[in-house]
Amino acid sequence: MKKTALAYSNIALIKYWGKVDFTNRLPANNSISMNLSNLKTITTVEFQPQLKKDDVLIDGAKVDKEIIRVKKHLDRIRKINNTLLFAKVVSQNNFPKSTGLSSSASGFAALTLAATSGLNLNLSENKLSHLARLASGSACRSIPGGFVEWYQSTSRHDSFAKTIFPDSYWNIVDFVAVVGGQKKDISTSFAQRSAFSSPFLKVRLKNLPSKLKYLKLAIEEKNFPVFGEIIEAEALEMHAIIMTQARPLIYFLPETLALFRQVRMWRLEGLLVFFTLNTGHDVHLFCQEKDKDILNKKLTLLPFVKRIIINYPAGKAAIINKHLF
Ligand code: PMV
Repeated sequence: MKKTALAYSNIALIKYWGKVDFTNRLPANNSISMNLSNLKTITTVEFQPQLKKDDVLIDGAKVDKEIIRVKKHLDRIRKINNTLLFAKVVSQNNFPKSTGLSSSASGFAALTLAATSGLNLNLSENKLSHLARLASGSACRSIPGGFVEWYQSTSRHDSFAKTIFPDSYWNIVDFVAVVGGQKKDISTSFAQRSAFSSPFLKVRLKNLPSKLKYLKLAIEEKNFPVFGEIIEAEALEMHAIIMTQARPLIYFLPETLALFRQVRMWRLEGLLVFFTLNTGHDVHLFCQEKDKDILNKKLTLLPFVKRIIINYPAGKAAIINKHLF
């Protein structure tokens, strides 16, 4: 049966950095994220008896290293259903991939939902999240909606993500400021392999439970200044680990740093805006709904900001009727 799913990318507010089990993608810590309403992947899947191999098209291209990961994930799903059928997969992102905007999160969440529905597997949200995690860790957080927590576990069956507050709970705004056009040269999966070589990871893991607790409280109380202070410090902390791993990595571009400094200047001038980012150079800026227009104007005036994508908290991955083939 042909099925199409829509999933939203997510931005980690408390990051996932370091794995205790690479094969099963078991994270070293719980993480918290928010789904992003304007970073979307739509994926159509159909298992077809006449196919001799999987036929995968992502953003109009057949030659892509992502395609190998897609085929591997289809193998996992086939195994659940004991099917030998190959699939036709067409996937479309509405934003650039491999630049740090987590297209693998929305991509593998959409693929997991469309492919399992295509085989009539009817999996629960927890099971879908668990399955998406095996393809890309952050993808498990794009299955449920809104503000989401991904739970670490030592068991491969118990690490999945759940909504902690629905998307309608808090109308905050996330601006993605695209500052670089190029793809990142070091993949996140590769960089994650060295996380434990940073002498600071242990300290981070020790302090994380209280950070998680205070971030959840800030969301619950809709306390934007506290929320912002936590997520900004958290992004810098993850990059401090990345810069002190055995093979230190620097993902920032000069424009990334210029934007960090600009955000801090705007705060001194009274505009409440905070930044975060993943393993890439493009920056996420958070503000309150009432400050959206002023921030938009200010960002548009910066010559090094190439594109702005405005997001609100978004819902869960869902089956839709608009097929891509
Ligand atoms: O899901 P992966 O393997 O692409 O790793 C994501 C890691 C970060 O984006 C840097 C942090 C996170 O929690 O999303």
